[in-house]
Amino acid sequence: YEVEWDADAADKGGWSSFMAKEINEQPEAIANTVRGRTAGRSVEIPELTALGDDRLRNIDRIIIIACGTASYAGQIGAYAIEQWARIPVDVQLSHEFRYRDPVLTDRTMVISVSQSGETMDTLMAVKYAIEQGVTTVSVCNTQSATIPRESDAAVYTHAGPEVAVASTKAFTAQITALFLIGLHLGRVRGELSTEALAEAVQQLEELPEKMRVAVDTHAEITQLAHWMADTRSVLFLGRHVGFPAALEGALKLKEIAYIHAEGFAAGELKHGPIALIDHGQPVFVLVPSPRTAPLMHSKVVSNIQEIRARGARVIAIVEVGDTAVLPYADEVIRLPLTDALFEPILQVVPLQWFALELSTAKGLDVDQPRNLAKSVTVE
Ligand code: G6P
Repeated sequence: YEVEWDADAADKGGWSSFMAKEINEQPEAIANTVRGRTAGRSVEIPELTALGDDRLRNIDRIIIIACGTASYAGQIGAYAIEQWARIPVDVQLSHEFRYRDPVLTDRTMVISVSQSGETMDTLMAVKYAIEQGVTTVSVCNTQSATIPRESDAAVYTHAGPEVAVASTKAFTAQITALFLIGLHLGRVRGELSTEALAEAVQQLEELPEKMRVAVDTHAEITQLAHWMADTRSVLFLGRHVGFPAALEGALKLKEIAYIHAEGFAAGELKHGPIALIDHGQPVFVLVPSPRTAPLMHSKVVSNIQEIRARGARVIAIVEVGDTAVLPYADEVIRLPLTDALFEPILQVVPLQWFALELSTAKGLDVDQPRNLAKSVTVE
């Protein structure tokens, strides 16, 4: 008697795809990325300490370089680093970086973000930065990959191996790692009060549990995707950190469901994209927390009213207890309370599920989308 052994199915741990498994693994991925880097309500990343505090205090500009999903993690991280460390941060696509003849000095820090650590565009940008004498930090998920080996410091995301081409747990772990870097720099540079640091550490430590609740939106998103299986175009709106999260939601849908999707900054709508809104157009709106970002919240609620008046079908992603959107939203997805800065880490999860379920509904290969590779090792 022999038991049929399907190694592939076993690796997927009972899930229908690696992507589904990896979405589900995000609470642990975040916990593992935070572990060992917070203590006594403070943050210390030993790899940054090794660079020397004087060197970190001397930095006057940060440029984050990355491609694809990692670049959206970089955009979200940039808000946090600027807020906590008070250093100006730019985010540039790796393949654009060199060609603009960037202004780099010995006070510049370049932070690369790459799941694989092998993306050729990012590697070449890092090598260029090293030639210019800047400090290079790698945020990477793959131990001993080329980019972290070339860099002055490697801050690993401990998300575990990511197999699906579309990045999920690496993305949320990258944001987490960039937040930790922002807190470390803010502390060393004396820009963060003990209370602000302690508060941020608490938010980080509570994230895995909240992430589990975000993962549990799967059933409601599956139903939504079922209703929307024939959708030909989807728009995503966000403000502040919700903007790059909206871009990531759109990218996921393009990558694995081959559906035309666009992400917009909510405030930009009136400057052009609102012309796209027609009867029945689905729009996901990432609504900032009314408790921690009341001004942004009210602006986004106005944006919802504007698109609803033009016939949009609004799917609002809100924090639990936000009732302001209820009169204008067709669907409401509720997520646990967290500080506005941390919200994209949770908000992106239902968007990941949505792309996965639309891809599945269309009978596509979720893990191996056409024309894409997990790691692009050519320029
Ligand atoms: C490829 C993948 C994307 C990924 C990008 C960056 O294009 O298909 O999912 O976001 O590379 O990969 P990296 O390994 O550098 O994070």
